[in-house]
Amino acid sequence: MIAISSKIRMPSWDFAGIKASNGRYGIHEYPAMLHYLLVRELLKEFGEGKKVLFDPFCGSGVSLCEGIRAGKKAIGIDINPLALLIAKVRSCQLYAQIPIREIIQEAKLSQPDIPKVKNLEYWFKPQVIENLGKLRAVIKKYKGTEFYELLLVAFSQTVRSTSNNRKGEFKRYRIDEKKLKYYNPNVFEVFGMTLFDYMQRLKEDNIPNGILEVYRKDVRESFYLKDTVDIVITSPPYGDSKTTVAYEQFSSFSLEWLSGLNPFGDTCQRELKSLSLGSSKNMDLNTSFDFSPSLYKTILRLSQISEKRAKEVLNFFIDLYYACKNITHILSRKAVVCFVVGNRTVSGINIPMDDIVREIYESLGLVHRGTFIRKIHNKRMPLLNSPTNQAGLKSNTMHYEYIVVMEKE
Ligand SMILES: C[S@@+](CC[C@H](N)C(=O)[O-])C[C@H]1O[C@@H](n2cnc3c(N)ncnc32)[C@H](O)[C@@H]1O
Repeated sequence: MIAISSKIRMPSWDFAGIKASNGRYGIHEYPAMLHYLLVRELLKEFGEGKKVLFDPFCGSGVSLCEGIRAGKKAIGIDINPLALLIAKVRSCQLYAQIPIREIIQEAKLSQPDIPKVKNLEYWFKPQVIENLGKLRAVIKKYKGTEFYELLLVAFSQTVRSTSNNRKGEFKRYRIDEKKLKYYNPNVFEVFGMTLFDYMQRLKEDNIPNGILEVYRKDVRESFYLKDTVDIVITSPPYGDSKTTVAYEQFSSFSLEWLSGLNPFGDTCQRELKSLSLGSSKNMDLNTSFDFSPSLYKTILRLSQISEKRAKEVLNFFIDLYYACKNITHILSRKAVVCFVVGNRTVSGINIPMDDIVREIYESLGLVHRGTFIRKIHNKRMPLLNSPTNQAGLKSNTMHYEYIVVMEKE
């Protein structure tokens, strides 16, 4: 284990030039993915002898896959059924050969099955709508096969790639009118190539056949697991979804096109938003909270500049407090908790999320093993954040990631 100290800069954890989306982590995009090499390092340092890994904000499942790779049972929860689907596919082995050509040929001859999609014609071209509908109709028939979920994930990425949204943009932001005129994506080709690529990734980046459990749950609600947890490796959202990563906007096209097909269920943007950390409304600035002196100071400073922003930040951290409390309840003795967080700026004030997380856990009886700092190079999330929630508008924030490591005595 690394020497116990308060904050340590870890240049060897920067992984400069190594993409977070290598291997099986290139299966479907997801915002703010953990770097798999960071998870691997954390498992090396803190995972020895630990049997059960838990990720309470599992997203696309990077921690879960690495947990399985290290021979642990992996349990994840998230509120987003798209995230759970991606996490499950990434964590599995693929034995079957998938008849890609036959699926596409069959789709071409099918009657389109077009679900309810908001402003469908604005976000998709007519030919794309028809062909996505045809693919959807055929994929349905493969329900019950070993590769059904992989088909859904490849279909979801195809929906994103062939929509009129700008590529590389997580929020809804349509392609420029002039460019849109000449934009004619080939749905079947994109689907075929995506599926082939995903099959290769699963085969080449092989992991053992481990035990995985993923559940659709809100971590703020108390929950029960059959196992006690030995190690937590997770990255919570960095703030409310209005001003940081809008996971619900990112997922919306896929959730609509997957409706009725995803084994993890359906949801809509509004529901996802209402479940995201920070959505608990109307937290009074006079609410007393004594779990974090750093949060107290931050809220005091922020409220002098903007009461509204101070309330938003407080709402978020009160939610995070309840999440941490629930996580603490399921830990075994000597369990290690690794929270990967970023310190963003709100109205010019730095929000020291690493100190706040440490203090929250200390108030819950855990001991600080250290905070490790790495530079962010590849993380698919706004290095350049969009504080106004307007697509395309960016301001400079997070360049470092803080890994807060706590231990239950
Ligand atoms: C930073 S992302 C996690 C990314 C993940 N580490 C990965 O590598 O893909 C945060 C996740 O928290 C989830 N989330 C937000 N609020 C939640 C809640 N109340 N309960 C459980 N998960 C929540 C979001 O859906 C999102 O997937």
